Amino acid sequence: MRGHQKLSLCLRSSFIDHSRGHQKLSLCLRSSFIDHSRGHQKLLGGLFMKRVLSGIQPSGKLTLGNYIGALQNFVALQHEHECYFMVVDLHAITVPQEPAALREQTESVASLFIASGIDPSKASIFLQSHVPAHAELGWLLTTQTYMGELERMTQFKDKSAGKDSIGAGLFVYPSLMAADILLYNTDLVPVGDDQKQHLELTRDLAQRFNHKYGATFKIPEPFIPKVGARIMSLDDASKKMSKSNPNPGSYIALLDSPDEIRKKLSRSTTDSGREVIFDPQNKPEISNLMTIYANCSGLTLEAVAARYEGQGYGQFKKDLAEHVVQVIEPLQEKYRTIRSSGEIGRILKEGAERVGTVAEQTLRSVKERMGFLL
Ligand code: AMP
Ligand code: TRP
Repeated sequence: MRGHQKLSLCLRSSFIDHSRGHQKLSLCLRSSFIDHSRGHQKLLGGLFMKRVLSGIQPSGKLTLGNYIGALQNFVALQHEHECYFMVVDLHAITVPQEPAALREQTESVASLFIASGIDPSKASIFLQSHVPAHAELGWLLTTQTYMGELERMTQFKDKSAGKDSIGAGLFVYPSLMAADILLYNTDLVPVGDDQKQHLELTRDLAQRFNHKYGATFKIPEPFIPKVGARIMSLDDASKKMSKSNPNPGSYIALLDSPDEIRKKLSRSTTDSGREVIFDPQNKPEISNLMTIYANCSGLTLEAVAARYEGQGYGQFKKDLAEHVVQVIEPLQEKYRTIRSSGEIGRILKEGAERVGTVAEQTLRSVKERMGFLL
């Protein structure tokens, strides 16, 4: 890492983007300069692949919102990027969890990663708690985070609203998320729109640390889909579709039966008009359903609007349900195969072993810079 730093310094006139400079440099000089952070990085066509990392909490059931906003992109990115996908169990305990339910949901979410199309031979799938460096860097970064920054987080405000006893973990959660990302010199973080603010804080923390202790962390970029970054509730299009909503009619769970999906979509709230037009301002419910339709059918929003011109909502909702079922049925079949195979434990262990070395190296360099005796 130090070797790299010096090199990128003396060549900074030709390498304007430092992160890129590093990438190219480590390629041509990799025999003489061992960049620990890049040491494990995969090559594609002779160039280092960009590193992608994301996580999903094992709290409750995953929804179609998680699939469209996050999982679908994980799958698309795995072919040309070095991907790390984790189940963030340490984040899930920031709200109360029953131990047996947490175990079940953790295995279920990891299996849903694979059922959605993530290939464990291409991407590393692991549990956050299997790599102890997350908790340790999480603490180190908590000490670098300001109260005011955490108080501004809308997810904290939403999750703590109206509650009497709020665990301190819920408040410092964004520092742990920053640690998740920064441990791996991540380039891209595919997430839904609701995580934008956490990503901005991660970038601020990385910059603050680099400024104070010397270049250590790579500054990650968010990767947010243009269509589907915020799938809304079926009963109220002003709220995002969420697995923690007490009304199950408000979301489609990835493990809902086809009949449940049909029922939920036919009962979904729509305005009193009858035109299928994409207009999020004036027709938020129908626009949300159109977004789901476009995603599950592969059609553009314009093509969906054209198909239902002059037809009203009835046929549109029926067809929408069939498109959703066509996506979800094969996913569920694959899910059942994975769960019954008993393979998931091994996949998670292997994933954690693969990524653990990278995490350890970053943690070591952070501790060294902060003044810990190693
Ligand atoms: P969570 O379920 O909160 O752990 O979220 C996991 C991922 O799914 C994150 O990247 C979220 O941004 C994304 N996500 C969750 N709900 C939605 C939604 N309703 N629409 C789009 N993306 C979502
Ligand atoms: N905070 C994210 C959510 O609630 C989950 C998460 C934790 C995450 N660590 C991450 C997402 C790192 C991306 C990268 O959805």
